[in-house]
Amino acid sequence: MKRLILAAGLAIGLMQAPAQAQTYPNKPITMIVPFAAGGPTDIIARIVGEHMSRTLGQQIVIENVAGAGGTTGITRASQATADGYTIMMGHMGTHGAAPALYPNLKYDPTKDFAPVGLAAGTPILIVAKKTLPAKDLKEFNTWLKATGDKANQAHAGVGAVSHMTGIFYNSLVGVKPTFVPYTGTGPALNDLVSGQVDYMADQIVNVVEQIKGGAIKAYAIATPERSPALPDVPTAKEQGMPEFEVSAWNAIFAPKNTPADVVTKLAGALDKALDDEATRKRLLDLGGIIPDKAGRTPDALQKLVVAEVARWTPVLKAAMATAK
Ligand code: MLT
Repeated sequence: MKRLILAAGLAIGLMQAPAQAQTYPNKPITMIVPFAAGGPTDIIARIVGEHMSRTLGQQIVIENVAGAGGTTGITRASQATADGYTIMMGHMGTHGAAPALYPNLKYDPTKDFAPVGLAAGTPILIVAKKTLPAKDLKEFNTWLKATGDKANQAHAGVGAVSHMTGIFYNSLVGVKPTFVPYTGTGPALNDLVSGQVDYMADQIVNVVEQIKGGAIKAYAIATPERSPALPDVPTAKEQGMPEFEVSAWNAIFAPKNTPADVVTKLAGALDKALDDEATRKRLLDLGGIIPDKAGRTPDALQKLVVAEVARWTPVLKAAMATAK
């Protein structure tokens, strides 16, 4: 008799699996953003999440879970039930830098997720408080060297994009400022505007408005060409620092073992959001770079994560060694 019940249970379970994906989603979806509200990761999550909600017919609810450079939120998301109702916005820090900076990291970015797709590329800028006297990058670097560890550099926690690109920049200039960690570059930006901290490396979508309004200074953008969103901000390359070339990326992941057809539905909704004119305009106006069709697939994201972990591990280990 027991064997009969087991067989029936198995049969029902198998029948439910496709049905579950067919009805997905039938309740709101939580998207964990591993930084404080108002920063670049949060901004991108809310912009793409809003349009994805329309396609999926269910609200995507943003949950900000900050801490440890984004690894606290990503760890929690990686351990969530793999049913498609918990997803996350990760990025070059949480899924590229973290293994080099957290020896006891509780997830492997290359193995413990179901990649959904790339949401936006985000060029990095060196921004500073508006009262800082330097007029250009050369003068800023002179000020940095003269100020030494009395210079305060804001970031969003060890391994955050603002931290990893900041230590990369410092290693190129040969300086060791004092780090001031925040739960995200949203809160960090408030202190930069008020002059509580001196500078930071941040993603363009977070700082475009403040730069345009003169609330902070932008000394350089770390892309080969200037951004259409900030045509007056020169590149680091134009100012004699071609080696400071780095663009971050933000991407949506689901927990490992999330059913493939659920991932396909999520990837389809992201693809539609990135094709939507109004959504594209919001991202482009903030200096975001929209991935092309080939760059948006789950496979493309998996390949990117593997490549980024391999790229950043030696760079960050070397930079951390000189940062001490
Ligand atoms: C970072 O990595 O610096 C984060 O993106 C900052 C944030 O989103 O608040």
